Amino acid sequence: VSKAVSDIAQPLLDWWDQHGRKDLPWQQDTTPYRVWVSEIMLQQTQVATVERYYDRFMQSFPNVSDLAAADEDNVLHHWSGLGYYSRARNLHKAARQIVESHSGELPRELDDLVALPGIGRSTAGAVLALSDGQRHPILDGNAKRVLARYYAVAGWAGASKNLRQLWEYADDNTPHQRVANYTQAIMDLGATVCKRSRPACDDCPLQAGCRAYADDLTGAIPAPKPKKERPRRSAVLLLARHNGAVLLEKRPSTGIWGGLWSFPEFESDVQATEWIERRLGVRPVRQQAWPPVEHAFSHFDFVMQPLEIALEQPPTMVAEDERWRWVNPQQPDNLGLAAPVAKLLAQLAYSPAF
Ligand code: ADE
Ligand code: SF4
Repeated sequence: VSKAVSDIAQPLLDWWDQHGRKDLPWQQDTTPYRVWVSEIMLQQTQVATVERYYDRFMQSFPNVSDLAAADEDNVLHHWSGLGYYSRARNLHKAARQIVESHSGELPRELDDLVALPGIGRSTAGAVLALSDGQRHPILDGNAKRVLARYYAVAGWAGASKNLRQLWEYADDNTPHQRVANYTQAIMDLGATVCKRSRPACDDCPLQAGCRAYADDLTGAIPAPKPKKERPRRSAVLLLARHNGAVLLEKRPSTGIWGGLWSFPEFESDVQATEWIERRLGVRPVRQQAWPPVEHAFSHFDFVMQPLEIALEQPPTMVAEDERWRWVNPQQPDNLGLAAPVAKLLAQLAYSPAF
C-alpha cells in the first residue's frame, strides 16, 4: 500500500545533518565515476577499509578511460586484500564497455547502468542519486535491514516476496528533495545505528515508528538466510622452489581468484610430483607438506594443502610468460595475489630452503 508521505525521510535527513559523515573521499568532487567506484568497494567492505584503498585506486585510475586502458593485472593489484575480486574484474570490464558504448562517460540512465557488469538496480540507483541527485530507490544491505525492521518484514529479506515488498517501501520513502542526502543517510543509519546485531535503537531517529522496536523483534528481523550445507573442497598447492624463487601461475579469469596469481594446484601430491617431472622436466629432490590452510569462500570452504618441493636442477620447460612466473618470495613484485596466497608467500620468504 503506497503512502503519499514518508514517515522516515525527514527524521533520517535531520539525523544525517547532525551525525552523518560528510568528509569521506568519495563525498568530495562527486562525479558519477568516483561514486561508482566507491559504491563497488563499499558493497562488501566497511567504510574504514575502503578509505585505505580508495585514494590509491583513484590516483592510478582517475577516470573511466584510464581504468579501461589499464591491465586487468594492475587493477587486481590495486584490489589486493579487498576480497570479492569479481567486483574489480567487473569494474574493469564495465569501464571498457563505457568507453566503447558511452564515449567514456558513465551513462546517466538507470537502465544503461544496470546493463553494465557488476551494477545492480540498487547500486545504479545509489550512483545516480548520490552523484546526480536523481530520484531512485536503493536497497543495499543497510537499507534492506532498516526497512525490514521498521516495517517488521518477517523472514529472510532476500526471499522474493520480501524483496518485492521492501523495494516498494524503499520507493515510497525516497523523497523528491535532497535525495542524495537521504540515500546516504539510510545507508549510514544501517551501517552505524541499525546494525545487524545489537542495533542502537536508543540513538535511532526512527524509533518512534519502528515496528520491530515496538514489538521487541529487532533480534529476529531480518531472519538469516536459510542455511545450506557448505561444501568443502581441498587441493594441493605446489610450492616449487629453485634458487630461492618459487613458481606462480596466473589463474584463469573465471572461477575462484580469477586472474590472480597463485601456486599451481593439484588433486594430490602424486599429481604434483608427476607434473614437475613432465612439465618442468626435472626430478623433485625433497618435499615437505605444510600444515593445511583453510579459506572460506562464499559458496564453499577451501582447504589448501601446501606441498613444498625443492628442485635441484634448473627447471627447463616452464618459460616465463603471461601464465607462469618465478617469483622471489621476498619481493613478489606488483602481482595481484589472493590473501591466503600472499600469506603463504610471506611464510616462504622466512623459511630457508630445506
Ligand atoms: N554501503 C554501500 N554504499 C555505502 C555508502 N555510500 N555509504 C556507506 N555504506 C555503504
Ligand atoms: Fe533499527 Fe532500532 Fe532504529 Fe528500528 S529503532 S530502525 S530496529 S535502530
